[in-house]
Amino acid sequence: MKLTETVAVVTGGASGLGEACVRNLVVGGARVAILDLDADRGERLARDLNGAAHFARADATSESDVSAALDACQSAFGKVTAAINCAGIAVAVKTIGKAGAHPLALYRKVLDVNLAGTFNVCRLAAERMQANLPDENGERGAIVLTASVAAFDGQKGQAAYASSKGGIVALTLPMARDLADVGIRVNTVAPGLFLTPMMEGLPQPAQDALAHQPLFPKRLGKPSELASLVRFLVECPYINAETIRLDGGARLP
Ligand SMILES: NC(=O)c1ccc[n+]([C@@H]2O[C@H](COP(=O)([O-])OP(=O)(O)OC[C@H]3O[C@@H](n4cnc5c(N)ncnc54)[C@H](O)[C@@H]3O)[C@@H](O)[C@H]2O)c1
Repeated sequence: MKLTETVAVVTGGASGLGEACVRNLVVGGARVAILDLDADRGERLARDLNGAAHFARADATSESDVSAALDACQSAFGKVTAAINCAGIAVAVKTIGKAGAHPLALYRKVLDVNLAGTFNVCRLAAERMQANLPDENGERGAIVLTASVAAFDGQKGQAAYASSKGGIVALTLPMARDLADVGIRVNTVAPGLFLTPMMEGLPQPAQDALAHQPLFPKRLGKPSELASLVRFLVECPYINAETIRLDGGARLP
Protein backbone atom coordinates (compact mmCIF):
# COMPACT_ATOMS: atom_id res chain seq x y z
CA MET A 1 0.00 0.00 0.00
CA LYS A 2 1.40 3.39 -0.97
CA LEU A 3 1.89 5.56 2.10
CA THR A 4 0.82 8.67 0.23
CA GLU A 5 -2.59 7.03 -0.22
CA THR A 6 -2.74 5.62 3.31
CA VAL A 7 -5.03 6.84 6.07
CA ALA A 8 -4.02 5.00 9.24
CA VAL A 9 -5.65 4.75 12.62
CA VAL A 10 -2.97 4.23 15.30
CA THR A 11 -4.22 3.12 18.72
CA GLY A 12 -1.96 4.00 21.62
CA GLY A 13 -0.61 6.59 19.18
CA ALA A 14 -0.05 9.24 21.86
CA SER A 15 2.99 7.52 23.42
CA GLY A 16 5.93 5.19 22.94
CA LEU A 17 5.80 2.74 20.05
CA GLY A 18 2.47 4.09 18.79
CA GLU A 19 3.78 7.66 18.71
CA ALA A 20 6.84 6.52 16.76
CA CYS A 21 4.54 4.79 14.24
CA VAL A 22 2.45 7.96 13.88
CA ARG A 23 5.56 10.06 13.20
CA ASN A 24 7.08 7.57 10.74
CA LEU A 25 3.85 7.15 8.76
CA VAL A 26 3.36 10.92 8.53
CA VAL A 27 6.96 11.43 7.33
CA GLY A 28 6.21 8.85 4.61
CA GLY A 29 3.19 10.83 3.43
CA ALA A 30 0.32 9.08 5.23
CA ARG A 31 -2.45 10.82 7.12
CA VAL A 32 -3.03 9.46 10.59
CA ALA A 33 -5.79 9.37 13.19
CA ILE A 34 -4.32 9.01 16.68
CA LEU A 35 -6.66 7.03 18.95
CA ASP A 36 -5.70 7.05 22.63
CA LEU A 37 -6.99 7.61 26.16
CA ASP A 38 -4.36 10.30 26.78
CA ALA A 39 -5.88 13.45 25.29
CA ASP A 40 -3.09 15.83 26.40
CA ARG A 41 -0.32 13.92 24.66
CA GLY A 42 -2.50 12.95 21.69
CA GLU A 43 -3.66 16.48 20.95
CA ARG A 44 -0.12 17.85 21.36
CA LEU A 45 1.23 15.29 18.90
CA ALA A 46 -1.53 16.00 16.37
CA ARG A 47 -0.74 19.74 16.60
CA ASP A 48 2.98 19.03 16.06
CA LEU A 49 2.16 17.21 12.85
CA ASN A 50 0.47 20.19 11.22
CA GLY A 51 -2.74 18.77 9.79
CA ALA A 52 -1.37 15.35 8.78
CA ALA A 53 -2.73 13.87 12.00
CA HIS A 54 -5.99 14.06 13.87
CA PHE A 55 -6.58 13.01 17.50
CA ALA A 56 -9.64 11.21 18.87
CA ARG A 57 -9.88 10.28 22.54
CA ALA A 58 -11.14 6.72 22.62
CA ASP A 59 -10.92 3.61 24.74
CA ALA A 60 -9.91 0.77 22.43
CA THR A 61 -12.25 -1.58 24.32
CA SER A 62 -15.34 0.55 23.70
CA GLU A 63 -17.49 -0.08 20.64
CA SER A 64 -19.01 3.41 20.74
CA ASP A 65 -15.67 5.23 21.31
CA VAL A 66 -13.92 3.36 18.50
CA SER A 67 -16.84 3.76 16.07
CA ALA A 68 -16.89 7.51 16.77
CA ALA A 69 -13.10 7.76 16.31
CA LEU A 70 -13.27 5.91 12.99
CA ASP A 71 -16.14 8.16 11.86
CA ALA A 72 -14.04 11.20 12.80
CA CYS A 73 -11.09 9.81 10.83
CA GLN A 74 -13.30 9.31 7.78
CA SER A 75 -14.65 12.86 8.13
CA ALA A 76 -11.14 14.30 8.45
CA PHE A 77 -9.39 12.22 5.78
CA GLY A 78 -12.13 10.51 3.72
CA LYS A 79 -11.30 6.86 4.50
CA VAL A 80 -9.49 4.36 6.74
CA THR A 81 -6.97 2.08 4.99
CA ALA A 82 -4.68 0.95 7.82
CA ALA A 83 -5.16 0.08 11.49
CA ILE A 84 -2.05 -0.04 13.66
CA ASN A 85 -2.78 -1.42 17.12
CA CYS A 86 -0.32 -0.25 19.79
CA ALA A 87 -2.65 0.46 22.73
CA GLY A 88 -1.75 -1.79 25.60
CA ILE A 89 -1.06 -2.10 29.30
CA ALA A 90 1.47 -4.18 31.23
CA VAL A 91 1.26 -5.54 34.75
CA ALA A 92 3.73 -7.63 36.76
CA VAL A 93 1.86 -9.90 39.20
CA LYS A 94 2.66 -13.54 40.01
CA THR A 95 -0.01 -16.27 39.92
CA ILE A 96 0.37 -16.54 43.68
CA GLY A 97 2.26 -13.98 45.76
CA LYS A 98 2.54 -12.49 49.25
CA ALA A 99 -0.84 -10.79 48.78
CA GLY A 100 -2.51 -14.05 47.69
CA ALA A 101 -3.71 -15.27 44.32
CA HIS A 102 -3.46 -13.06 41.22
CA PRO A 103 -6.57 -10.85 41.26
CA LEU A 104 -8.92 -12.24 38.62
CA ALA A 105 -10.24 -8.77 37.80
CA LEU A 106 -6.71 -7.62 36.93
CA TYR A 107 -6.17 -10.67 34.68
CA ARG A 108 -9.45 -9.90 32.91
CA LYS A 109 -8.54 -6.20 32.55
CA VAL A 110 -5.24 -6.99 30.80
CA LEU A 111 -6.99 -9.38 28.40
CA ASP A 112 -9.74 -6.83 27.82
CA VAL A 113 -7.40 -3.98 26.86
CA ASN A 114 -4.64 -5.88 25.06
CA LEU A 115 -6.64 -8.58 23.29
CA ALA A 116 -10.35 -7.67 23.16
CA GLY A 117 -9.47 -3.98 22.59
CA THR A 118 -7.26 -4.93 19.64
CA PHE A 119 -9.95 -7.15 18.13
CA ASN A 120 -12.57 -4.44 18.68
CA VAL A 121 -10.55 -1.89 16.71
CA CYS A 122 -9.71 -4.38 13.94
CA ARG A 123 -13.27 -5.57 13.38
CA LEU A 124 -14.67 -2.03 13.22
CA ALA A 125 -11.82 -0.73 11.05
CA ALA A 126 -12.09 -3.71 8.66
CA GLU A 127 -15.82 -3.11 8.32
CA ARG A 128 -15.01 0.35 6.97
CA MET A 129 -12.00 -0.76 4.91
CA GLN A 130 -14.12 -3.20 2.90
CA ALA A 131 -15.86 -0.20 1.29
CA ASN A 132 -12.52 1.19 -0.01
CA LEU A 133 -11.77 1.05 -3.72
CA PRO A 134 -9.03 -1.58 -4.15
CA ASP A 135 -5.58 -0.29 -5.14
CA GLU A 136 -3.59 -1.70 -8.09
CA ASN A 137 -2.73 -4.80 -5.98
CA GLY A 138 -6.38 -5.36 -5.04
CA GLU A 139 -5.68 -4.10 -1.50
CA ARG A 140 -8.33 -2.39 0.56
CA GLY A 141 -6.50 -2.30 3.87
CA ALA A 142 -3.62 -3.36 6.10
CA ILE A 143 -3.77 -4.21 9.78
CA VAL A 144 -0.83 -4.44 12.18
CA LEU A 145 -1.14 -5.93 15.66
CA THR A 146 1.35 -5.55 18.51
CA ALA A 147 2.17 -8.70 20.47
CA SER A 148 5.40 -9.04 22.49
CA VAL A 149 8.20 -11.55 22.89
CA ALA A 150 6.28 -12.35 26.11
CA ALA A 151 3.91 -14.32 23.85
CA PHE A 152 6.79 -16.83 23.47
CA ASP A 153 9.17 -16.21 26.41
CA GLY A 154 6.81 -15.02 29.16
CA GLN A 155 8.57 -14.13 32.42
CA LYS A 156 7.56 -14.58 36.05
CA GLY A 157 4.77 -12.13 36.78
CA GLN A 158 3.63 -12.04 33.16
CA ALA A 159 0.77 -14.59 33.29
CA ALA A 160 -1.82 -11.99 32.31
CA TYR A 161 0.35 -9.98 29.91
CA ALA A 162 1.76 -13.06 28.14
CA SER A 163 -1.73 -14.58 27.82
CA SER A 164 -2.95 -11.42 26.13
CA LYS A 165 0.01 -11.28 23.75
CA GLY A 166 -0.20 -15.01 22.95
CA GLY A 167 -3.80 -14.28 22.02
CA ILE A 168 -2.63 -11.58 19.60
CA VAL A 169 -0.27 -14.03 17.88
CA ALA A 170 -3.09 -16.60 17.63
CA LEU A 171 -5.47 -13.96 16.26
CA THR A 172 -3.22 -13.08 13.33
CA LEU A 173 -3.81 -16.06 11.00
CA PRO A 174 -7.58 -16.49 11.40
CA MET A 175 -8.18 -12.77 11.00
CA ALA A 176 -5.95 -12.69 7.90
CA ARG A 177 -8.00 -15.60 6.53
CA ASP A 178 -11.31 -13.87 7.35
CA LEU A 179 -10.24 -10.64 5.63
CA ALA A 180 -8.37 -12.04 2.61
CA ASP A 181 -11.46 -12.03 0.39
CA VAL A 182 -11.79 -8.27 0.74
CA GLY A 183 -8.09 -7.57 0.26
CA ILE A 184 -7.05 -6.74 3.82
CA ARG A 185 -3.71 -8.06 5.17
CA VAL A 186 -3.03 -8.74 8.86
CA ASN A 187 0.45 -8.94 10.38
CA THR A 188 1.86 -8.82 13.90
CA VAL A 189 5.01 -7.35 15.42
CA ALA A 190 6.39 -8.99 18.57
CA PRO A 191 8.72 -6.38 20.11
CA GLY A 192 11.48 -7.26 22.53
CA LEU A 193 12.56 -4.57 24.96
CA PHE A 194 12.03 -1.00 23.80
CA LEU A 195 12.74 2.26 25.57
CA THR A 196 9.27 3.81 25.93
CA PRO A 197 7.38 5.38 28.85
CA MET A 198 6.16 1.83 29.70
CA MET A 199 9.81 0.73 30.13
CA GLU A 200 11.06 4.03 31.61
CA GLY A 201 8.83 3.25 34.63
CA LEU A 202 11.26 0.46 35.62
CA PRO A 203 14.18 1.24 37.97
CA GLN A 204 17.50 1.90 36.18
CA PRO A 205 19.14 -1.41 37.35
CA ALA A 206 16.19 -3.34 35.88
CA GLN A 207 16.50 -1.37 32.61
CA ASP A 208 20.26 -2.07 32.52
CA ALA A 209 19.67 -5.80 33.05
CA LEU A 210 17.13 -5.88 30.24
CA ALA A 211 19.47 -3.97 27.92
CA HIS A 212 21.90 -6.93 28.16
CA GLN A 213 19.38 -9.48 26.88
CA PRO A 214 19.73 -8.94 23.09
CA LEU A 215 22.49 -10.87 21.28
CA PHE A 216 23.44 -7.77 19.31
CA PRO A 217 23.12 -4.83 19.57
CA LYS A 218 23.27 -4.91 23.39
CA ARG A 219 20.77 -2.18 24.08
CA LEU A 220 17.06 -1.55 24.31
CA GLY A 221 15.25 -1.09 21.01
CA LYS A 222 14.44 2.37 19.71
CA PRO A 223 10.75 3.06 19.01
CA SER A 224 11.79 4.37 15.56
CA GLU A 225 13.14 0.86 14.74
CA LEU A 226 9.76 -0.69 15.54
CA ALA A 227 8.04 2.02 13.50
CA SER A 228 10.11 1.22 10.41
CA LEU A 229 9.01 -2.45 10.62
CA VAL A 230 5.37 -1.38 10.97
CA ARG A 231 5.77 0.89 7.95
CA PHE A 232 7.18 -2.04 5.94
CA LEU A 233 4.20 -4.19 6.95
CA VAL A 234 1.83 -1.50 5.69
CA GLU A 235 3.73 -0.92 2.45
CA CYS A 236 4.71 -4.44 1.32
CA PRO A 237 1.75 -6.07 -0.46
CA TYR A 238 3.04 -9.65 -0.21
CA ILE A 239 3.48 -10.00 3.53
CA ASN A 240 0.42 -11.43 5.25
CA ALA A 241 -0.55 -13.50 8.31
CA GLU A 242 3.00 -13.16 9.72
CA THR A 243 4.34 -12.50 13.22
CA ILE A 244 7.81 -10.92 13.34
CA ARG A 245 9.95 -10.68 16.46
CA LEU A 246 11.96 -7.45 16.66
CA ASP A 247 14.30 -8.04 19.59
CA GLY A 248 18.00 -7.97 18.62
CA GLY A 249 18.00 -11.77 18.95
CA ALA A 250 17.00 -11.71 22.63
CA ARG A 251 15.49 -14.93 23.98
CA LEU A 252 14.42 -14.21 27.53
CA PRO A 253 15.35 -16.89 30.07
N1 LIG B 1 7.95 -1.05 25.34
C1 LIG B 1 8.26 -2.31 25.17
O1 LIG B 1 9.38 -2.77 25.44
C2 LIG B 1 7.24 -3.28 24.60
C3 LIG B 1 7.64 -4.58 24.36
C4 LIG B 1 6.74 -5.48 23.83
C5 LIG B 1 5.45 -5.07 23.53
N2 LIG B 1 5.08 -3.80 23.78
C6 LIG B 1 3.70 -3.45 23.45
O2 LIG B 1 3.69 -2.32 22.60
C7 LIG B 1 2.50 -1.56 22.81
C8 LIG B 1 2.90 -0.11 23.09
O3 LIG B 1 3.70 -0.08 24.27
P1 LIG B 1 4.53 1.22 24.71
O4 LIG B 1 5.77 0.71 25.34
O5 LIG B 1 4.59 2.17 23.58
O6 LIG B 1 3.58 1.75 25.89
P2 LIG B 1 3.14 3.22 26.30
O7 LIG B 1 2.59 3.06 27.68
O8 LIG B 1 4.21 4.21 26.04
O9 LIG B 1 1.93 3.53 25.29
C9 LIG B 1 0.73 2.85 25.34
C10 LIG B 1 -0.38 3.81 24.94
O10 LIG B 1 -1.61 3.07 24.92
C11 LIG B 1 -2.61 3.90 25.46
N3 LIG B 1 -3.70 3.07 25.96
C12 LIG B 1 -3.67 2.20 27.02
N4 LIG B 1 -4.86 1.61 27.17
C13 LIG B 1 -5.67 2.11 26.19
C14 LIG B 1 -7.02 1.91 25.82
N5 LIG B 1 -7.82 1.06 26.49
N6 LIG B 1 -7.52 2.58 24.75
C15 LIG B 1 -6.75 3.45 24.06
N7 LIG B 1 -5.45 3.69 24.36
C16 LIG B 1 -4.94 3.04 25.42
C17 LIG B 1 -1.92 4.69 26.57
O11 LIG B 1 -2.65 5.85 26.91
C18 LIG B 1 -0.57 4.97 25.93
O12 LIG B 1 -0.58 6.21 25.23
C19 LIG B 1 1.77 -2.23 23.97
O13 LIG B 1 0.78 -3.08 23.43
C20 LIG B 1 2.84 -3.05 24.64
O14 LIG B 1 2.31 -4.18 25.30
C21 LIG B 1 5.93 -2.88 24.31
